[in-house]
Amino acid sequence: MANEDIIDRLSEIFTRHGARSYQGGGVSITEHMLQTAAAAEGASCTPGVVAAALLHDVGHFITDFARLEDDPKHASMLEAKVDRHHENAGARMLQPYFSAEVVEPIRLHVQAKRYLSAIEKDYVKTLAPQALHTLGLQGGPMSPHDVAAFEENPYCRTAAMLRRWDDAAVVPGLKTPDFEHYRGILRDLVTG
Ligand SMILES: [Fe+2]
Repeated sequence: MANEDIIDRLSEIFTRHGARSYQGGGVSITEHMLQTAAAAEGASCTPGVVAAALLHDVGHFITDFARLEDDPKHASMLEAKVDRHHENAGARMLQPYFSAEVVEPIRLHVQAKRYLSAIEKDYVKTLAPQALHTLGLQGGPMSPHDVAAFEENPYCRTAAMLRRWDDAAVVPGLKTPDFEHYRGILRDLVTG
């Protein structure tokens, strides 16, 4: 795929597929990702981190929702029976086009949920039902050994920050900028 085409492919995910696939709690995946990006932008993060927040769940459209776009009733994480590792699928899709600043927090955002579940007593109480459900499928809270290893990762803090925006981005009806608002940021970030 040519570099400029990746942005059109991402736009299509937001405008067509994501708008009809549900994160849960009455919020579509598109609304969820836009809310996550708006939180990153509101925190004055770098464009790379804003892009990571915006794109963190695009892997769902390679794994969980690829064959479900005409069946939105079933496109809910609460109905997931297995973990299909959407974070790795998203990172693989984006890696040829974006730097590690964008790709690595996306790759780590599920591990960050397992990390925060292990280090903060009340963190799991803040999770929406679908995030709690998938936490079990994803391995549950990290062991102390895995916590120590995760903290060695240079993207640990960014991934944990993204995770908190992700967890909060389930507000029905919240107004946010749309995908086009981020097109210029994405174009500037596309590499190679
Ligand atoms: Fe998410």
